[in-house]
Amino acid sequence: MAEHVVLREVGPRDGIQMAKRFLETGRKLEWARRLAAAGIREIELTSFVPPKVVPQFADADEVARGLPQLAGVVASALVPNLKGAERALAAGFRHVNYVLSISEAHSRSNVRRSTDEAIAEFDRIAALKETEAGRGMVLGVGLATSFGCTLQGYVDPQRVFEVARRVAAGGADELIVADTVGYGNPAQVKALLPPIIEIAAGRRVICHFHDTRGLGLANVAAALDAGVRAFDASLAGLGGCPFAPGATGNIATEDTAFMLESMGFSTGVDIEALLDLRRDLESWLGEERYSGAIAHAGLPKTYRPVR
Ligand code: COA
Ligand code: ZN
Repeated sequence: MAEHVVLREVGPRDGIQMAKRFLETGRKLEWARRLAAAGIREIELTSFVPPKVVPQFADADEVARGLPQLAGVVASALVPNLKGAERALAAGFRHVNYVLSISEAHSRSNVRRSTDEAIAEFDRIAALKETEAGRGMVLGVGLATSFGCTLQGYVDPQRVFEVARRVAAGGADELIVADTVGYGNPAQVKALLPPIIEIAAGRRVICHFHDTRGLGLANVAAALDAGVRAFDASLAGLGGCPFAPGATGNIATEDTAFMLESMGFSTGVDIEALLDLRRDLESWLGEERYSGAIAHAGLPKTYRPVR
């Protein structure tokens, strides 16, 4: 039996938070349904941020009404604060991803709080599990800027471990180690991930890489070596944080699936179906920075998906 690797599609969230065009709610849901039909089993579907801050997600509640159409998919929502988590739960999400920046400068830019204040907010979100509304909530914590920051520069790995320990002890169910601005390299991944996996103590560890400087898939390979079996990715390599200068797209889902399957890992993903969807997505979104190699080069004749 081939080992399975989870691809968590973050296109409908990370992928379009900086997009120039507002993507109509129906299209967002079609995107998600077709991802599911292409074999994607986990999707970060929207973000519960104030519409003033990111207008693209003004329809988060309407998007949530499409959840019943996504049976069999783990659909999650990003939240920047307690209010976002309460909105996400009220809208019907059970999986909530809270972003917490290790870099003080990025934390202030992104959520107008220091990292310690953001940790205090995390505690308030984790406490929702004890309430009626939050029963059964699965709380992921995104450790943003874990590999460096365009605002602050160096980010101390010891601080990453400290925050990871703190949120693991405080009720995080999953740790999402994020290279928000594409500063990471495989040697850093090799150094950072084993201690995080140890701290996670059985909780799932997900890597979230941006390909800003071309090292996205190299970092995936290093994380696989470290034992990570879940990755965030975005169709066509869309993505980027509006509050981190110079941020560009996530690793492309189709290229990541190609690499994983070629290495003998099963992803369950139908790459041709993703490429069809990508063509439509490009027409819906118009001018954006689309990346990824497989959409241009095609799959090799020798390609055989793992069964
Ligand atoms: N959803 C909707 N409205 C929200 C909200 C949320 N999650 N959080 C706060 N608000 C509202 C408040 O109710 C308040 O409304 P009012 O002015 O009508 O009273 C207003 O927004 C300001 O609230 P406040 O708590 O003071 O927030 P802030 O101005 O300090 O901003 C964040 C903090 C976290 C809301 C904002 O910085 C943010 O949305 N950041 C996320 C950025 C992002 O999406 N980054 C990319 C993903 S990592
Ligand atoms: Zn990201």
